[in-house]
Amino acid sequence: MTLPAAKSIAICVSAVVVTLGVGAMLFVWSGAYNVAASEQHFAVTHWLLDFVKRRSVETQSLLISAPPLDDPDLVRLGGAHYHGGCAPCHGGPGDPRNPVVQQMYPEPADLPIAAPSWTPGQLFWIAKNGLKFTGMPAWVAQNRDDEVWAVVAFLRALPKMSDAEYRRLAIGEAEAPRSGMLELAALGSRAEILSRCHRCHETESSPSANRLVPKLVGQSQAYLEMSLRNYANGLRSSGIMQPIAAELDEANLVEAAKHYAQHRSVGKMASAPLMSEKIERGRRIATAGVPEKGIPPCLACHAGKSAATFPKLEGQHAAYIVGQLRLWRRGLRDRTVQGAIMAAIAPRLTDEQIEDLAAYFESVATMQVPTEAPPPPPPAPPRAPVRRR
Ligand code: HEC
Ligand code: HEC
Ligand code: HEC
Repeated sequence: MTLPAAKSIAICVSAVVVTLGVGAMLFVWSGAYNVAASEQHFAVTHWLLDFVKRRSVETQSLLISAPPLDDPDLVRLGGAHYHGGCAPCHGGPGDPRNPVVQQMYPEPADLPIAAPSWTPGQLFWIAKNGLKFTGMPAWVAQNRDDEVWAVVAFLRALPKMSDAEYRRLAIGEAEAPRSGMLELAALGSRAEILSRCHRCHETESSPSANRLVPKLVGQSQAYLEMSLRNYANGLRSSGIMQPIAAELDEANLVEAAKHYAQHRSVGKMASAPLMSEKIERGRRIATAGVPEKGIPPCLACHAGKSAATFPKLEGQHAAYIVGQLRLWRRGLRDRTVQGAIMAAIAPRLTDEQIEDLAAYFESVATMQVPTEAPPPPPPAPPRAPVRRR
């Protein structure tokens, strides 16, 4: 091809591209394209958007490998979160979607039907990152993959779930209002608020509830209030507790903390600690620390008589204790002065020491009911910078 011929072809192609570009801009500018959610896409647009979504999720989630997801407590925790965090849009067995939500476009998928078309890794990616231009939100606490996996564990079980089983997993034994928009609306009475907490936390009739959910009974009111405020203002990250705490107004927050702090110890007192080598190893670290590794005795701070805002660990679920110590080792839960104390201690513990300590604390008698006497004033915590991220 001669040079002038190539040049004129290039000019023609550029002219066509510029014309198309300007045409597209004019079309957008004119407002002729209808963004109404009440109007369906053309079939081809619909197909294209769906294709883009599927290919994007497939590629973005390629490197994600799922942890074991069969733990019934993981499924239960995922189900309890699903009821408040997902069902208002997606519905569930025996819990139809609200008519308002059905007018979203695209309409939130019917997950019992849609979930099996995705692998666990893909479901994880969607639940963690959300989907642009659809209204599907990202997970509130982006650093809490452990929580997102609980939801995935539940989504895997969802397709085969009966209405009754869904209700048991999502709502537990507590009588709670059905989901729908109610859950997102302003809070009601004290009983209604507590019924929400009872979906996951212990009640008089089910004292041990879920091993992955902390026992609250026996903690001081000061610690419970502080924890709820830290969730509400995002200083303690949890995609499960942050939205719940943020919905509580000050009076309700104090009420909820008071309820658990004043509650009589529930359930049977644990029998004499079942001594095993593991528990004994844990007890030694808890009482004497490991001085050569810079690990202080846990009970210096975690015994009943410590500062009111220091949590008690006696009788707490081992799985929860392990989970929280791992958060500190991953550099999380360190954004408050109190959290920074543990951030300096937890990374010094080995996996085995963490397991031993958790087994020891769980084996100690059920959390003690707080005494009438006010707790001693808190010792000045070690100074640590509050980091933002
Ligand atoms: C505010 C409403 C809303 C909430 C809350 C919500 N979603 Fe969605 N979700 C959507 C919308 C809208 C879509 C897009 C539907 C589509 O693309 O077909 C979607 C899509 C999805 C999909 C992909 C379905 C498919 O086959 O395309 C999954 C999986 C999903 N959501 C899971 C969840 C989970 C798990 C939660 C709770 C942690 C949740 N969603 C919370 C609105 C919501
Ligand atoms: C969907 C389940 C769920 C519901 C409902 C729920 N919680 Fe929680 N809660 C959790 C989980 C899981 C954690 C641990 C979160 C973490 O890793 O930080 C937690 C942690 C807490 C903590 C911190 C405890 C500690 O030892 O540090 C407090 C306080 C608390 N919840 C209070 C409440 C109150 C009050 C309500 C009701 C208004 C409530 N929760 C409702 C699951 C739930
Ligand atoms: C110098 C005081 C101090 C020592 C020593 C200490 N802790 Fe802590 N621990 C704290 C404080 C303060 C918190 C509350 C942190 C927060 O609110 O985020 C805490 C929280 C915890 C929690 C979370 C409890 C909950 O309900 O969420 C666990 C688990 C824990 N510590 C385990 C340990 C173990 C195990 C040891 C011993 C190896 C230990 N701690 C030693 C001060 C201490």
